[in-house]
Amino acid sequence: MILLGLNIDHAATLRQARYRSAGATHGGNVEPDPVELAFRCEKAGADGITVHLREDRRHIQDEDVMRLAASKSTRLNLEMACTPAMTAFALKLKPHSVCLVPESREEITTEGGLDVVKHRDKVARVTDAMNAAGIKTSLFIDPEPAQIELSAKLQAPWIELHTGAYANAYHGAGRAAEFARLVAGAQQAHALGLVVNAGHGINYVNIAEIRTIPHLHELNIGHSIISRALSTGIDEAVRTMKRLMNP
Ligand code: PXP
Repeated sequence: MILLGLNIDHAATLRQARYRSAGATHGGNVEPDPVELAFRCEKAGADGITVHLREDRRHIQDEDVMRLAASKSTRLNLEMACTPAMTAFALKLKPHSVCLVPESREEITTEGGLDVVKHRDKVARVTDAMNAAGIKTSLFIDPEPAQIELSAKLQAPWIELHTGAYANAYHGAGRAAEFARLVAGAQQAHALGLVVNAGHGINYVNIAEIRTIPHLHELNIGHSIISRALSTGIDEAVRTMKRLMNP
């Protein structure tokens, strides 16, 4: 059974589009409330909630994360940059897991994952701190042998394979090659003892192939589910995706 981590950032994006300067994250006129949405997602079958607290706070706010930590009934996965400020925040929050993601151009590999090889020391510092605190670290990386090998060496228990290049190539000639990279990456990671997650750009169409990547533990999906929810409501959007993930 592949688990679903629901990324609710886009609900906060919608709220910030109108209420960025409201001085509150919920209540009164301020809507939508991503924390309430998370509650509904969990009831509909999401196995975990993922939020990215960006340094520029462009969508999810600190208060959202605090409220989620207090109200969630599943697991909280905090996506964050590899910075001392975010490390201190995570150590205080103690989420179930953190997913280290790139935020600035120079941290990004060619495809867009975190460049663990280039930023080895920084990633190691955060991973060590999380391991010591009992928080699982997931590294959001491209399916590149060197990135995967180093992730295992740094003793991050999980990786999240970046599926964005595959999703972008889905309707073009590069799809088979991108898919083969993901399969090979998952096999390599599993052989090294890493738990294999995947995410970015997964939707109701490409899930039919994505779900056949071997050794998948969890998929983190946001944009497509939130988009579908505008038409169908979040319950149906979550339930349908879970069914397609595990037919
Ligand atoms: N995984 C990671 C690490 C992400 O940063 C995101 C958001 O970009 C996702 C998964 C979800 O991607 P999407 O919104 O395209 O489903």
